[in-house]
Amino acid sequence: MEKYQAWAGETLAKVRAKMAWVSEKNKDKIPYTTDETGSYDDRSDPTVSWNRDDGLNWWTNGFWGGLMWLLYRDTGEERYAEIARCTEKKLEQCFSDFYGLHHDVGFMYLLTSAADCKLTGSGDARRNALHAANLLAGRFNPAGRFIRAWNENGDKDVRGWAIIDCMMNLSLLYWASQESGDPRFRQIAVMHADTTLKHFLRPDGSVRHIVEFDPETGAFVRDYGGQGYEQGSSWTRGQGWAVYGFANSYAHTGDPVYLDVAKRVAHYCIANLREDGIIPVDFRQPEDPAWEDSCGACVIADGLLEVARFVPDCEKPLYTCAAVKILKAIAETRADWSENCDAVVQNCTAAYHDEKHHFPMVYADYFFIEALYKLAGGENLIW
Ligand code: GLY
Repeated sequence: MEKYQAWAGETLAKVRAKMAWVSEKNKDKIPYTTDETGSYDDRSDPTVSWNRDDGLNWWTNGFWGGLMWLLYRDTGEERYAEIARCTEKKLEQCFSDFYGLHHDVGFMYLLTSAADCKLTGSGDARRNALHAANLLAGRFNPAGRFIRAWNENGDKDVRGWAIIDCMMNLSLLYWASQESGDPRFRQIAVMHADTTLKHFLRPDGSVRHIVEFDPETGAFVRDYGGQGYEQGSSWTRGQGWAVYGFANSYAHTGDPVYLDVAKRVAHYCIANLREDGIIPVDFRQPEDPAWEDSCGACVIADGLLEVARFVPDCEKPLYTCAAVKILKAIAETRADWSENCDAVVQNCTAAYHDEKHHFPMVYADYFFIEALYKLAGGENLIW
């Protein structure tokens, strides 16, 4: 384990060097991906309509602020806190519009406002994070005991749709109960986690991406392949959301059933891990084209390290070694440490059937760096 810690420490030195100039260059933005020059875009650009879910409401808009809070905790440098607060100020505007927000208020405000509240005790941050938690709780469907994922989408009726990604958003609810003393948030999180366990987990340990319930009766209707290859396949980032998300539910409730689920999905991922440590978009995709998703890789690795925190010492190496294999593959073959690109992690894919593949995504950098901090011995700040 010590040699892994040393490697994480060396890699974090490269991260600190790169993030020093990347953060300065992009301090007024909320980035998602890079353009053809390697510069970050800006999802908070006021000339882009922000009251849809691809402008200021874009679901990944919390990761930049979260990354800044991680760097602030690490370095103690105030400039990182200032950039994070700048993101928070912008994201406050989304509350007044409301329509563009959906279940990913978890990703948006847990990493920004809740992290700020935890680190600095800010009252404004606490209010915004509790506001977001109330919006998330308000999406709960009592008949099906699930949190509705998305909003209206053209002709598609998504009132009964839940997705595996939401397991990560539950941490905002656990935090809200702890912070406010009101158990309702945690109760909703637990009911959603139990529904996910029942309807998403397959006997082989893989998970579905999307499940549709009847929004009136709560009955199971069907599942969808979502961002993966097809119905019945296993989208790798979704497997990562399940490993990490169920580990988080265990961390907050102490219910061993959740740790058991996290381990089962982790074992499925480890059994499907390639020798070179590169993660495809879907574990069941055809060999050709060989689409990869470095972001899914970082989520899986970070989730495996989370599981390792809770298992007995004799079990830890299984999860830690697999995580290190993935992280080393990223650091040594899929990372850009130069000044040619603002992002570190390359070759991410949002969804298998998208036209575009293999580009940087800010949340890949977030999970890569968070995982390195964990491997180096740091506590889990955010989830
Ligand atoms: N939560 C959507 C994604 O992972 O792309």
